[in-house]
Amino acid sequence: MVKALSRMEYRGYDSVGIATVHNSALIVRKGVGNVSHVNARLSLDCMQGSVGIGHTRWATHGAVNNINAHPHLSCNGRIAVVHNGIVENHDELRSMLIAEGHIFKSDTDSEVIAHILESLPAIDDGNSNIICKAIAERLNMLRGSYSFVALTGDGILLGARYHEPLIIGLGNPSRGNDDDYLLFANECFIASDVLGFIEYTDKAIFLADGEVFIVRGEGHNPRLSIRVCNRDGKVVMKDITQIAWEFADVDKGRFAHYTLKEIHEQRYTISKAFNNDPKRLHLLVDSLVNADRIVITGSGSSHHAALMAKYLFSTICMLNCDAVVASEFMYNMGICIGNGRPILLAISQSGETADVLNAVRLARLNNFKIASIVNSPLSTLARESDIFISINAGPEIGVAATKSFTAQIALLYRISVEIARSKGTNLTLGMESSSIYVEKMLEMEAVISDLAERIKHANNIYIIAKGIHYAIALECALKLKELAYIHAEGIHAGELKHGPLALIDEKSIVIVLNPMDETYNDVLTSAHEAKARGAYIVGVSDSSSSIYDFTLAIPRVDRMLYPLYEVIPLQLLAYHMALKRDCNPDYPRNIAKSVTVK
Ligand code: G6P
Repeated sequence: MVKALSRMEYRGYDSVGIATVHNSALIVRKGVGNVSHVNARLSLDCMQGSVGIGHTRWATHGAVNNINAHPHLSCNGRIAVVHNGIVENHDELRSMLIAEGHIFKSDTDSEVIAHILESLPAIDDGNSNIICKAIAERLNMLRGSYSFVALTGDGILLGARYHEPLIIGLGNPSRGNDDDYLLFANECFIASDVLGFIEYTDKAIFLADGEVFIVRGEGHNPRLSIRVCNRDGKVVMKDITQIAWEFADVDKGRFAHYTLKEIHEQRYTISKAFNNDPKRLHLLVDSLVNADRIVITGSGSSHHAALMAKYLFSTICMLNCDAVVASEFMYNMGICIGNGRPILLAISQSGETADVLNAVRLARLNNFKIASIVNSPLSTLARESDIFISINAGPEIGVAATKSFTAQIALLYRISVEIARSKGTNLTLGMESSSIYVEKMLEMEAVISDLAERIKHANNIYIIAKGIHYAIALECALKLKELAYIHAEGIHAGELKHGPLALIDEKSIVIVLNPMDETYNDVLTSAHEAKARGAYIVGVSDSSSSIYDFTLAIPRVDRMLYPLYEVIPLQLLAYHMALKRDCNPDYPRNIAKSVTVK
């Protein structure tokens, strides 16, 4: 359980807890800190029992403290609950439950679930269907999003999924008879992500929204029975999915951090994403070309990839498109006006980001076709899309996106090439040499570490760029914030003189994205303006200039490809800045890799 929780830490890691059943009683241990710290203090891995639930929390409601850590217990101590999501009407429910005599211990929204379930009838051999129905009825009281798993003092696991992922891994599964749709397994692993159990089984069932499950031992039979019901309490027949074993590759290997390992994996992830499945590429390109409007969306780094996509599709492919940050989609309803065949291209590494899924659902209501670029074909986004295509980058554990971002860009290059081809233009970008150039960028690590040492005390870093490079300036700023906790800002080079120049003095660091393309001269002019105010100038370029105090040399490539090679030294810079400033690059404070709440 402790190992599985470590695998899930990317979803949040401010507190941790486990509940098990021993001698027909629930035992709970929980505390503040990441999995290894809490385990060292509370010996989570020594807890007795053969059934348990665990949770790593990323606080949304209630401070980070021991009491607010999950699991939460019902008043009678017979039900423990772990929850992912937000119960939006928890205040209302809490007042109602308190009026009924329930006593709350925590400030969390999640605790209401434990109290709601307290009045469930006792679960026995024959009444699983009734219980499923009773759970579903109680869940109708909840508004918001939830995936939860509850453990009873009798060692029965039950739970539900609604707008948050929940997957049941099955060890050595088999089916019951056709009438009852029961599944049996030697072992059951319930998690928000296959990473939680992939080391133990590659077979799983994916719960759909509104589905409820019960897992229990069958009398003296050592096997477990698994029953899944819909909201009306009717049993649902679930398909068993075979999960790709490549998900199991989640070790740091020879690297000090996952982030560094993932930066190095770009040697092959970029070309893997570019050389994608021709059938899926064809389907996607066909849909994009035949749409009369394309809207591209994403959050965080995936939003930066969306900005790249907008640039590539409109300049290379002459397609009418717009990019909107996923969390802002609902405030841009103008993009939904009009008939025709609009398409939303949603980009998300995890495929579970709530803001992206909300944008997708809103677009669907407004007649958009949904296409997506994901890293997991098993994700909610892939499942809710009409067409999806995977970047095939393998698991990304470091909280900050690195290899997934460049894989998204590589795939976007490929899509652009195919769109151009479908319109009769033969475009060659020279992606065959990508691994060689990535290798060259990675060889700069010692030089980059030296730069990090020189600028590690900076309070503000500005990254200036023009055109397609602006997306990389934003990405670089995001990496510096996430990994090294430095205030950093990506700025359109032309905008420097319209305000930001007032901030520049001899303490400022200005990173200039300045490859030899049509943006070169204008960006150099802006760099001069910053230099004249005393800034330390870091040039990222394939052409040397006396204006740079430090140069990060990138290869001379097709002008469209520069962003791909610019971003790698900047990822390494953020990583080394993090080390020099004593920050843990894999687990930045306050942020989670997969943000499944609004
Ligand atoms: C979180 C992470 C970011 C990431 C964003 C989008 O905010 O901290 O690094 O870029 O989610 O994630 P997605 O999985 O949708 O690409």
